This record gives sequence, C-alpha cells and structure tokens, in this order.
Amino acid sequence: GLPARVTIHEVGPRDGLQNEKAVVPTGIKAEFIHRLADAGLPVVEATSFVHPKWVPQLADAETLFPLLGDLDPHRLPVLVPNERGLDRALALGARRIAVFASATESFAKANLNRTVDEALAMFAPVVARAKDAGVQVRGYLSMCFGDPWEGPVPVAATVRVCRELLDLGCDELSLGDTIGVATPGHVQRLLTALNEAGVPTSRLGVHFHDTYGQALANTFAALQHGVTTVDASAGGLGGCPYAKSATGNLATEDLVWMLHGLGIETGVDLGRLTATSAWMAEALGRPSPSRTLRALSHD
Ligand code: HMG
Ligand code: MG
Repeated sequence: GLPARVTIHEVGPRDGLQNEKAVVPTGIKAEFIHRLADAGLPVVEATSFVHPKWVPQLADAETLFPLLGDLDPHRLPVLVPNERGLDRALALGARRIAVFASATESFAKANLNRTVDEALAMFAPVVARAKDAGVQVRGYLSMCFGDPWEGPVPVAATVRVCRELLDLGCDELSLGDTIGVATPGHVQRLLTALNEAGVPTSRLGVHFHDTYGQALANTFAALQHGVTTVDASAGGLGGCPYAKSATGNLATEDLVWMLHGLGIETGVDLGRLTATSAWMAEALGRPSPSRTLRALSHD
C-alpha cells in the first residue's frame, strides 16, 4: 500500500538556484525560503557551503543563513563537501547537513575533483564531527541510475556507495537521478537491491530530476516500495534551459497535486506554494516548467 504521509524535502533554494544563470539577490533568497516554510514545507534546503568559485550562485551562504534565524535550523539543511564547509556551517548554527557522493567516477571528478573513494574519505571526518555535534546528516548519492559520460549505472555500483555512506554514519540517503533518465522499473530494481544489501527503506529518500518527464512516475514507484521522503523543487526550478543533460527537479507543485490526490498528507498548502513559485518565476524573469503551477495560475 501507499504511505499515509510523505515528507517533502524542498530543494528549490539550493538545487534550483545553484543552476540559475542569474545570481539571485540574497534578500530574495531569504524571502523565498521563508515563504516555502510558511507554505508548510517541513524541510527547506537553504544553501551550500562549497567553494564559492565552483558555485558562485550560492557564494552568499554566510549572509543568507543569518537571515533565516527565526526558522528552526533543523528544518534548513545545507550542503557541506568537506571540513572547511562544515566549519563554515557550524559557525552559523547549522543543525542539519548533507554530504554529496557520486555512484560514478566521472561525476565525482567533475563535481568534487576527487575519485569516488577520495570523496568518501573527504566526507568521513565531516560526518563524524557532525554526529559528535548532534547534527543530522543526509548523504546524497548522484548518478544512481545514469551518467552523462558513462551511460546506465549498474545497480551494484549504486548499492556499493550507498552502503559506504551509511557506514560513514549518514542518517538518511537521498538517491539522486541527477540527469533524469530513471524509469519506474529501474527505481524498483534499485530499491529492492538496496533492501537485499541491508539498507532499510525508512532511511531512503528519492531525488528525481524531470528531464525525461519520468519524475512523478518514478516517485510513485518509490512510494509503492514504502519510501516516505521525496525531494522536489518549487516551480521545478533548476537546470539551464540551454543545457542538454539536465532540467530541474520534480516540481513540488506537481508532487503535492499527486500526493494529495492519493490522500497522502504533506502539510503543504498548495495555494501558498503556487503563489510563492509564481512570485519566484517573476523574479527570475522566466516561466516555471511546472504543469500544476501553470494549470492553477489565473492570469
Ligand atoms: P578543490 O579545488 O579540490 O578544493 O575543490 P581543495 O580541497 O583542493 O581546496 C582548494 C581551496 O579551496 C583551498 O583554499 C580551500 O580552503 C578552499 P586555498 O588554501 O587554496 O586558499 N576550499 C573552500 N573554501 C570555502 N568553502 C569550502 C572549501 N573547500 C575548499 N567548502 C571542493 C573541492 C569539494 C571544495 C569543490 O569541488 C566544490 O566546492 N564542489 C562543490 C560542487 C557543488 O556544489 N555541486 C553541486 C551540489 S551536488 C548536486 O547538485 C547533486 C544533488 O542535487 C543530487 C543529484 O541531483 O544528484 C545533491
Ligand atoms: Mg539534484
């Protein structure tokens, strides 16, 4: 059967805005995050403490995070690649972090300038120190299904790195379909293989990008398997419209429409969410790709 409740892990301010060509002003980001929290999203990934030259869009993390001081930091995870990033995040009072690994060597190199195992070694002290400080740790795993350089990714390769992330001490994993090539059968095969490798479904979240229009179908397959944490991006933000390999994440509006239609609780007020995404699309100067947002827009 399907779960009664799903936790939506909102990634628009981080995964969405990191891919925008324009650097969004810090005050707009802060308002975006506040509005998403007010719309009932329980978790809003706020920013990344990565190298500012690698992701200039999120280089204002030190200015942004203090503007969110009225929100519970347990609701505001931030990405941290290494100890330098952890120091920065802890200094500002972050209480929830995410490290981000890759199932493929090509993407580990492109994203982290490391091999898969070097990246895991980089995360080891980050996770250990975070846990000592009582900080909750999510482990993202990118390219769980396919990779733009290597093609389809064997289930065993993904399972291997998932196990390593859990062994480091990650509380939760997020299975990333970074370029949106997964299909529901592949999702089911991966989830089953993870269970067979001793990974309980309760510790798994799913993170679908919608490049091939499969994100909702993939989510449904994951729900049927018992997954109750689903990542999504308000308005389907993210991905450059000119880049071929990736578009934005599954739009939060589309996800909420499906979940509420299934009678699954999310705590999200869809009206406040669509108003927020419409406002953000205006600020970015381009229309949202979310079908639900467009269908519910009245102008
Ligand atoms: P590197 O060049 O190998 O860095 O980058 P390094 O360790 O050699 O250090 C070089 C210099 O950078 C040093 O300074 C460090 O202090 C500094 P120097 O001593 O030369 O003056 N430095 C930092 N400064 C500020 N903050 C830091 C930091 N770290 C080092 N945290 C590094 C390695 C990991 C830093 C780099 O590759 C990086 O920042 N990568 C981040 C890439 C990224 O953010 N990608 C997007 C997120 S992942 C994603 O979107 C996928 C996901 O959505 C799931 C999915 O869809 O699949 C999560
Ligand atoms: Mg992503």
